[in-house]
Amino acid sequence: MNMVQQPNDIRDIIEADRAHVWHHLLQHKPLETNDPRIFVEGRGMRLWDATGREFLDALSGGVWTVNVGFGRVSIANAVRDQLVKLNYFANSAGSIAGAEFARKLISKMPGLTRVYYSNSGSEANEKVFKMVRQIAHRHHGGRKYKILYRERDYHGTTIGTLAAAGQPQRREQYGPMPPGFVEVPHCLEYRSQYGAIDNYGERAAEAIEEVILREGPDTIGLLCLEPVTAGGGVIVPPAGYWQKVGEICRKYDILLHIDEVVCGVGRTGMWFGYQNFGIEPDFVTMAKGVASGYAAISCTATTEKIFDLFKDDPEDPMSHFRDISTFGGCVAGPAAALENMRIIEDEGLLDNTLQMGARLIANLEDLSERHAVIGNVRGAGLFCGAELVADRQTKEPVPEKLVQAVIANCAAQGVLIGATNRSLHGLNNTLCLAPALIATEQDIDQITDAIGTALTTVFG
Ligand SMILES: Cc1ncc(COP(=O)(O)O)c(C=O)c1O
Repeated sequence: MNMVQQPNDIRDIIEADRAHVWHHLLQHKPLETNDPRIFVEGRGMRLWDATGREFLDALSGGVWTVNVGFGRVSIANAVRDQLVKLNYFANSAGSIAGAEFARKLISKMPGLTRVYYSNSGSEANEKVFKMVRQIAHRHHGGRKYKILYRERDYHGTTIGTLAAAGQPQRREQYGPMPPGFVEVPHCLEYRSQYGAIDNYGERAAEAIEEVILREGPDTIGLLCLEPVTAGGGVIVPPAGYWQKVGEICRKYDILLHIDEVVCGVGRTGMWFGYQNFGIEPDFVTMAKGVASGYAAISCTATTEKIFDLFKDDPEDPMSHFRDISTFGGCVAGPAAALENMRIIEDEGLLDNTLQMGARLIANLEDLSERHAVIGNVRGAGLFCGAELVADRQTKEPVPEKLVQAVIANCAAQGVLIGATNRSLHGLNNTLCLAPALIATEQDIDQITDAIGTALTTVFG
């Protein structure tokens, strides 16, 4: 079967792209002489570019999004049917798909009851920050406005969410950042700040408490954390961490926000990453995997207790949450999200994620026995990182250039993988893998075989 458009058509497209498209994340100078990569078709875990080359995508659409794989006709049909019937009305009114998806989503999140729709991960997180600020104004006399975020975590691209980014390189040249955001230390045991200790998880959580006491508990409204840090290097918090974090939040009356934009909807083998750790969050945000990229949708989920705070004084015209997301009213989002969730359930993709995730980790550990450059392997479900070091003893990171060379070599072999990039000065050295939840044993082995070959080519 011919999977791609004819080269004649595509030459014209490439020229239009080169002349007019400003791509995300890219330095464009090389594109003046090289063709941009243009993907034209996808099926399952595989993509074809404009030249007809096939790739195995170990990143679910580049940024861990297409959880159920490419080419899902049933999601396309659900979106089409919805668009033909009613594409849009502002979300101040309801919709059938919006109500049905909210009920389905909430059934997977005991303790939470309400869903606020918007259309990107950044926006979903901004909603939480705005809710917390409004709660501070209305219920704490303006105090408790500060937002704590963790070193190495990322929460979005807007100035507000960048202010909550624990990745200094991402913020660089975009300052000044708005005030009221305070960083707490990371919890990557491999790079322990406290030496080799038995209770690293608890110690890393105590470091949060130290920041709270320094800032003053009555100034802090929110602690915002990724359940497993994604772009900051695939960091799974160590044992003992979450229990202590929960205790600290309760002790100082600080709301807990779990950013599930990456982990949400299956990535770790649970519906949500936080469900691996017994956490009881006040807010959960999600975006990428909610509809696997078939439509733009993000959700801010919260408890009835928080929701009630915004309707306690109906006579006051300023008491409710005065926020709107225009495209949070696009009904294609929840229509796609409902079908996405049905697929995950009916095809047993959470189980598959656990099984294939275990294989991915085992394969990477196997590789680390043959390649001294792999200093640390970590992950949860189909979400793994392999940190590359020049020296296992000193843990000196390999230069970003060499990490990128590994990625380029894998791409030349037809396998797309990623890495931390331009996020953390000197520490953009973790290979990142997030295959779709439909991955098979053959897919996983093809990914790790390609990495093995690339490591041999780049490091010998
Ligand atoms: C953990 C996390 N939160 C938030 C975001 C921002 O999501 P979006 O790009 O949809 O605004 C991202 C994006 O990569 C992310 O990884």
